[in-house]
Amino acid sequence: MTCTAIIGTQWGDEGKAKIIDYYTQDADIIVRYQGGANAGHTVVAEGNKYIFHLIPSGILHKGKICVIGNGVVIDTTKLIEEIDLLKDQGYDISERLIISDSAHLIIPYHKDIDEGMENLRSQKIGTTKRGIGPCYSDKCLRLGLRVGDIFDREYLITRIKGALAFKNRQLERVYSKSGYKIDEIIDMLDKFRERTHSMITNTQNYLHNSLEKGKRVLLEGAQGNALDIDHGTYPFVTSSNSSIGGALIGTGLNPFCITDVVGIAKAYTTRVGEGPFPSEDKGEDGDLLREKGAEFGATTGRPRRCGWFDVELLKHAKRINGLTSLALTKMDVLAGVEKIKIAVGYKVGNRRLEYFPSKMLDRVDPIYEELNGWNEDISSCKSFKSLPENARRYINFIENSLSLKVSIISVGAERESTFVK
Ligand code: GDP
Ligand code: IMO
Ligand code: MG
Repeated sequence: MTCTAIIGTQWGDEGKAKIIDYYTQDADIIVRYQGGANAGHTVVAEGNKYIFHLIPSGILHKGKICVIGNGVVIDTTKLIEEIDLLKDQGYDISERLIISDSAHLIIPYHKDIDEGMENLRSQKIGTTKRGIGPCYSDKCLRLGLRVGDIFDREYLITRIKGALAFKNRQLERVYSKSGYKIDEIIDMLDKFRERTHSMITNTQNYLHNSLEKGKRVLLEGAQGNALDIDHGTYPFVTSSNSSIGGALIGTGLNPFCITDVVGIAKAYTTRVGEGPFPSEDKGEDGDLLREKGAEFGATTGRPRRCGWFDVELLKHAKRINGLTSLALTKMDVLAGVEKIKIAVGYKVGNRRLEYFPSKMLDRVDPIYEELNGWNEDISSCKSFKSLPENARRYINFIENSLSLKVSIISVGAERESTFVK
């Protein structure tokens, strides 16, 4: 039995899906544990590009089981769309997708409130408007609807009525939007039940049983450590724990089940939405990274802010998650950058900070070191040895700064452009 957690170490979009797809070759079960359709996970396989929002990124490997865990918030319409799209592309996944009966449901009012709040906020977050924050809030307020509720009509009606008593007032009075009728929500959930009833189960039990039988499990994080509601750059974060704690809560597994924790990091840094980003490059280099790395959001299409690799951000991710190794993606994008900067620490005035601060990250100045770049196209390299010397130096510098081994190197979006260091 193995249970490997795959976790984003920056502000999301590190290439988690690509690495999940790679690891799936040696796994039996792949589990999404938090977040919702705010995630955009891209896999490029056999020349085709697939973007997953809710379905785990291992789904393209026939015979592998994919689980949507209890910690995920499910947009039922988006999930059905995703299942249908995969069917059109030749993947019938009805026998391979399992959905937790205790995952919470995103109801259309969550998306309305997400948008309404974002419009009213003086300090914008730049959310994906997928209803994530309002849905997790309702979970905590005990106003949420859960997947398993759809099997008991009387109970479901009581739950919807209870929620609408608050939501319709809120929509009408705070956001000047129209409220919802109970039947609209029931209709939506009926469609969901018709399509997915055979997939819904107690996934906590399923996962524990599978591990007891010796199965190999991959836990697929969404977002990244710096977007974690507790350990990220609050309030510019998402509304779930994208770090290792979320992997336990969002699956029901315990700390002793986890065998390793692989951090995914881009060879530079990006961020979508608002919030501090010390190593951001707003000049030509940042533009070059955006253009070469095709840095546009997989969910919203927004241009991603780009900047340099940040060792302090990664040290924070290593500590919080107990990373056992690192997968470094998008190394190919750095080719042609003459001098590559790396932020090796932060200072405020003349004072060097000793650890990643929990506030005022917008006031720190990064301390940079510069490494010589390389011009060769490395996208067809298949081993560490075959990389140009300066690319090897760059990777060694990262390993040494973090005291963490780089286990996987990615040099292109395709499945094949991946090798073990
Ligand atoms: P995720 O949310 O962490 O799964 O990452 P996204 O899918 O949002 O963004 C990563 C983007 O980079 C996708 O378009 C991937 O196809 C692409 N990608 C992943 N690894 C590499 C790589 O090594 N090189 C290049 N050029 N693109 C990559
Ligand atoms: P993946 O899994 C990058 C960002 C949003 C916004 C903040 C809050 O593809 O890496 P939310 O809609 O979650 O309330 O938005 O979090 N964000 C992401 N940024 N990648 C993601 O997911 C993200 N999911 C949310 O842009 O700044
Ligand atoms: Mg993404």
